[in-house]
Amino acid sequence: MLSDLTSLHTEALTALDAASDETALEALRIDYLGKKGKLTALSSGMKDVPPDIKKDVGAKLNEVRTAITDGITSRQLAFQAAKDAASVSGLDITLPGRPGQGTGSLHPLTQIRHLAISTLRRMGFALAEGPEIETEWHCFDALNTPADHPARNESDTFYLNDGRLLRTHTSSVQIRTMETVKQLPVRIIAPGAAYRRDEIDATHLSVFNQLEGLYVDKDVSLADLKGTLEYFFREIFGPKTAVRFRPHFFPFTEPSFEIDVKLEAKGKEDRWIEIAGCGMVDPAVFEAVGQTRKDTLFDPTEITGFAFGLGLDRLAMILHGITDIRHLIENDLRFLRQF
Ligand code: DAH
Repeated sequence: MLSDLTSLHTEALTALDAASDETALEALRIDYLGKKGKLTALSSGMKDVPPDIKKDVGAKLNEVRTAITDGITSRQLAFQAAKDAASVSGLDITLPGRPGQGTGSLHPLTQIRHLAISTLRRMGFALAEGPEIETEWHCFDALNTPADHPARNESDTFYLNDGRLLRTHTSSVQIRTMETVKQLPVRIIAPGAAYRRDEIDATHLSVFNQLEGLYVDKDVSLADLKGTLEYFFREIFGPKTAVRFRPHFFPFTEPSFEIDVKLEAKGKEDRWIEIAGCGMVDPAVFEAVGQTRKDTLFDPTEITGFAFGLGLDRLAMILHGITDIRHLIENDLRFLRQF
């Protein structure tokens, strides 16, 4: 039996060397280790082995079984490694990656918002925010807008069942800020969404983006307002841009102005384009804030301020010559890839 085992061992190792693929290897495993395999057959002869050599024969049997099993495993690993090597042949893993594929870019609206914010922050304005679901007080009353003002109609403003509304402008953040600050000066900008029940067309969406500004302190003047906004629009549209202030009316500022910038149209006459609203904060606004605060920080006989508001969508459209505001929300890659 011992010599049978020895010759089976030699035979199996030769067969292992000869196995040329995984199928041959599996056949070999069944041939030796399977239920009807050669080694299995030999080990069933153990019961006839005389007791004095049983131990040696058993040890030899285990040795041969282990040798065959290990042999099969190591051949299997070798076959797998060869396969892996074949599948990556021609691949140089030291090559650098390919740049530029699928790299995104910022949406034109995001770009213009970043530019506007960074320009105004350089001038000392800090970011402020307020809720998009607002009270009538913050959106209208405190901003000196009378109850019968057309902007307050249900046909123009989205009202909630509880009497609150979706803010129609970011000017409500002026009130939110003045109600909560601890000291002067107040010098804030508030970019954010505004909502109106407009018919949607090339220049109107029911949700759009504004940027509000407010500067309040002792002795803030109309000259400060002009200087700040002229500088701002020249940063946006270029240093030679002409900026004009046209008298207008807003309930929350007095005096009020609309700001136009002069844009060069290639081959055509230059055009003045309305770009923002602004003015000196109406004392009635300070009085409304004083009612909530119950202190005199915003005493209108002591302080003045200027405010402005502009449409970021409109700014992006003018800057890039976009003729339909809906492009800004449709996420058409043919449009977006141009920026
Ligand atoms: N809230 C105005 C609007 O939505 C824009 C505006 C005008 C804001 C004048 C101001 C301002 O702060 O002083 O049309």
